[in-house]
Parts: sequence; C-alpha cells; structure tokens
Amino acid sequence: MAFPPKRIAVFGASGALGAAFTKACLDRYESATVFCFARSLERIPAYKRTQHYSLGLEDNLMQTSAGAIKAQGGLDIIFVATGQLHSPTTQPEKTIRFLSATAMEETFLANSILPALIMKHYLPLLPRHNKGVFAAISARVGSISDNFLGGWYSYRASKAALNMLIRCAAIEMQRTHEKSVVIGLHPGTVDSALSKPFQRNIPEQQLLTPSKSAVMMLDIIESCNQSQSGKCFAYDRTEISP
Ligand SMILES: NC(=O)c1ccc[n+]([C@@H]2O[C@H](COP(=O)([O-])OP(=O)(O)OC[C@H]3O[C@@H](n4cnc5c(N)ncnc54)[C@H](OP(=O)(O)O)[C@@H]3O)[C@@H](O)[C@H]2O)c1
Repeated sequence: MAFPPKRIAVFGASGALGAAFTKACLDRYESATVFCFARSLERIPAYKRTQHYSLGLEDNLMQTSAGAIKAQGGLDIIFVATGQLHSPTTQPEKTIRFLSATAMEETFLANSILPALIMKHYLPLLPRHNKGVFAAISARVGSISDNFLGGWYSYRASKAALNMLIRCAAIEMQRTHEKSVVIGLHPGTVDSALSKPFQRNIPEQQLLTPSKSAVMMLDIIESCNQSQSGKCFAYDRTEISP
C-alpha cells in the first residue's frame, strides 16, 4: 500500500460500520481522502476530507464515479460495508417454509451482487505494483463448515456467495496487481440497525461498538499481505474457514 493510504473508498458509508470505518480512516491518516458511497447521500455523515457519491447497481453510475476517482489517482483501500439481514418487508428465514423469491432476491442483491459489481468497477483502481486492499464485510454465518444451527437461509447463502466472489477476484487480481489483497472480514457482533432485532441473547460484553470493530478491521487491512488474499478473517484476526 502506498503508506499511509491516500485514497480510500467506503461503500455503504451511511451504515453503522461504513460510517465508523470512514471516521477511523480520517482519524488515522491525516492526509487521506475518503470517497463515501451510499444509496441515500443525505445519510452519509458530514466529515472533512470526504467526497460523496451515489451508490446503485447501474454500470453507468459506477463507471462515472470510478472515472472521477481514477482521475484523482486511483484507490489504496476499497471497503464494502453494504449488506442486508432484514428490511421492512423481509426477515431472516427461521425455516425453509419461509423462503420467498422476492426476499431472497433482495438479500442477494445487497450482499452478493452489489459487492461483485463494486469489484468489477473499482478493483482496477488499486495500484498495480504496490499493496492495495479490497475488503468486504462478510459474516461468520457465511461459513458453510461453521454452520451447525441452520436458519437465515438467504443471509447465510448470500454471504457464502460473497466469500466465493472474493476468492475468484483474489485469484484474478494476482495476475495483474501483484501485491493486491482481496479479503472478507467478519466484524463481530456489532451494535447497529442490522443486528438490533437479534441482540437479545447476546451478552453485553460481546456486543462491539461500530467504532471498535472498524478500528480492528482497519488494523487487519493495514497488516495483511498477498498470501492472505482470497480468505476471510474475523475482527480478532482469526481465519474463518469457508
Ligand atoms: N452488525 C453486525 O453485528 C454484523 C455482523 C456480521 C456482519 N455484518 C455485516 O456488516 C455490514 C454492515 O452492517 P451494519 O451492521 O453496519 O448495518 P447497517 O448499519 O444496517 O448498514 C448497512 C449498510 O448497507 C447499506 N445497504 C443495504 N442494502 C443496500 C442496497 N441494496 N444497496 C445499497 N446499499 C445498501 C445501507 O444503506 P442505507 O443507509 O441506505 O440503508 C447501509 O449503508 C453488512 O454487510 C452486514 O451483513 C454485520
């Protein structure tokens, strides 16, 4: 990585973890610019040294913002913090009987398809010969080998798909961007709108603040290297098996 990193993109900057990661980068890297993406610009916190961009699935929207960032020198870190577990119309499925095409589509769009399109348009902006990091927030429950509880079909499957996309992109990037690292990160159980309805059985000391989780993920991004590309790590640096 051109260190300290100069240009960082955060997708889902309106969310708890995306906003906390933006703040962590601005606090740590005094001369960095953070490009903040969200589908609702008014939900992005107003910090200095940020530029705000609309986030959507359309190729031309992503091409335009990628072109604007390329003209400013490209990216050192890409951080994807978008994701959905529930929405006003969907809940994680407790049983297979609750599966619905519409809810599955919504979850896969947010958790797998959007991050894949972000990879398509922004991975080429990482440095070709220096370290550059793409990190997407996955989830421990996306691990197939670690699934002993079942349930949450769409969320688990969409995060497992994200982990596969990360692996594919890591292999492809190795060919053209020799020091690039493409990883998934599990943020821990973090106090946010996404986890709020499911916090009841979580001991208080296990619930991380977004800022604590963001700093721990930034530490991983700083220290990771090419041999770790394609893998998924928890906030405490342990590797999560696929
Ligand atoms: N919190 C946890 O305990 C936990 C645990 C494991 C993994 N994660 C993962 O961490 C990531 C961030 O979650 P969070 O806890 O920060 O939740 P959050 O506060 O609800 O943030 C979610 C973010 O994703 C954006 N988003 C959702 N669907 C989108 C879509 N279709 N298109 C564009 N943007 C979309 C939201 O945008 P709006 O502001 O417009 O809604 C928001 O910026 C997610 O991938 C989640 O799966 C969280």
